[in-house]
Amino acid sequence: MAKTKTAFFCQNCGVQSPKWVGKCPSCGEWNTFVEEVVKSVEAPGWKENDGLGRASTKARLIQEIEIEAEQRIDTLDQELNRVLGGGIVSGSLVLIGGEPGIGKSTLLLQIALQLHIDNVLYISGEESEQQIKMRARRIGHQSESLYILTETNLELIFDQVRQMRPNILIVDSIQTLFTDKVEAAAGSVSQVRQCAGELMKYAKSTNTPVFLIGHITKEGSLAGPKILEHMVDTVIQFEGDRHLSYRILRTTKNRFGSTSELGIYEMLHNGLRQVSNPSEILISQREEGLSGIAIGATLEGNRPLLIEVQSLVSTAAYGTSQRSCTGFDAKRLNMLLAVLEKRGGYRLGMMDVFLNIAGGLRIDDPAIDLAVAVSVISSLEEVSIHNKICFAAEIGLGGEIRAVNRIENRIMEAEKLGFEHIYISSYNLKGINKSRHNIEVKSYARLDQVLSSLIS
Ligand code: TYD
Ligand code: MG
Repeated sequence: MAKTKTAFFCQNCGVQSPKWVGKCPSCGEWNTFVEEVVKSVEAPGWKENDGLGRASTKARLIQEIEIEAEQRIDTLDQELNRVLGGGIVSGSLVLIGGEPGIGKSTLLLQIALQLHIDNVLYISGEESEQQIKMRARRIGHQSESLYILTETNLELIFDQVRQMRPNILIVDSIQTLFTDKVEAAAGSVSQVRQCAGELMKYAKSTNTPVFLIGHITKEGSLAGPKILEHMVDTVIQFEGDRHLSYRILRTTKNRFGSTSELGIYEMLHNGLRQVSNPSEILISQREEGLSGIAIGATLEGNRPLLIEVQSLVSTAAYGTSQRSCTGFDAKRLNMLLAVLEKRGGYRLGMMDVFLNIAGGLRIDDPAIDLAVAVSVISSLEEVSIHNKICFAAEIGLGGEIRAVNRIENRIMEAEKLGFEHIYISSYNLKGINKSRHNIEVKSYARLDQVLSSLIS
């Protein structure tokens, strides 16, 4: 009888080691090695010619390589198209990650139902055919070309794929698949890596786009090895607060497009609705006269977005102040608080400061600095900011108001949404023609000038 072979795998980065080690030599994490069985028998994985030998490989001169016109499949979903960089690229492997229950299966089933191409195969290892059918009925689209397969064994899946030759393959989820090549349990590092590797070979050799759904661990990273993220062409995160209905699709890696694009959806009782004008919902629930609220004009990818920054400043209990941030970088908040203290003379050291970006968004655009600073002072002084004012500027350590990129887009979006005043840096004035806009553009060079004009 063949001896079972085992190896140790780092659960964080996927590195393999013949013996147990306490600290991973690759990623430096402690206590992440787990023993998994590696069976060396060759089970048939994906082979285009099904085991009749390898296709020969040969180096080619770069001049001789012809670029075929890049073919993209339109998903008929503007948000997903944008996030993918203009549609689905043939032969691409796309990983969609997100917490359980966020709507990954719903999104991909909805896309699969509305695609205008034949032979779409949706493989589910998580739900039964009936459950998927019920969900499809709920979403309400009809499709003549969508096939469902509930199977988790990769070899059996490939048998079906060879017969069916799907034009798009969707796998829900990569953590439920297992291959006979590896004896470890489904979802273990070696299984995930092996299955994803086979699916990648399949995608590349047949030019079929493959979507993989991946689970996210409590810490927010994709479950399974980091190596999964290196393998695939595109990594998309589906995120949002489960208690709110907005969902955000964000690219963290894209070999075929920008990583700064964002797709926004609303989860309704009948599937996901595309939100094409997000600013409207992000700032619509505003009550007049509340202190601690300021609107920032930010950009996500190419898309201008007006977002609501909320702060609450209160006296620290027991003398130790807390700072807490949702949707904004905590270090950046600390820096802004220090600038306000030092350059504006506001006593924030003994105050608790809570900051929240409304709608569950995470913003790392420095152009919302001014909105953050204004909202903090608005809460501290209990003075509300007029709801037709918005802000687009970065703040420097000297308390200076700095210019931001693409200011025209921000101004135009604010104008479109009916804002009457936008506060920007004087250094941004050069590039813009004030008379073209119906919104009053106010420019400042220093933070204290902005604050004294608003709060006095
Ligand atoms: P699901 O797609 O199963 O999440 P995931 O695959 O990421 O785990 O999402 C399920 C949630 O979405 C569930 O709580 C029900 C809700 N939902 C709706 O609100 N409306 C709908 O039309 C559908 C299909 C699901
Ligand atoms: Mg699911």
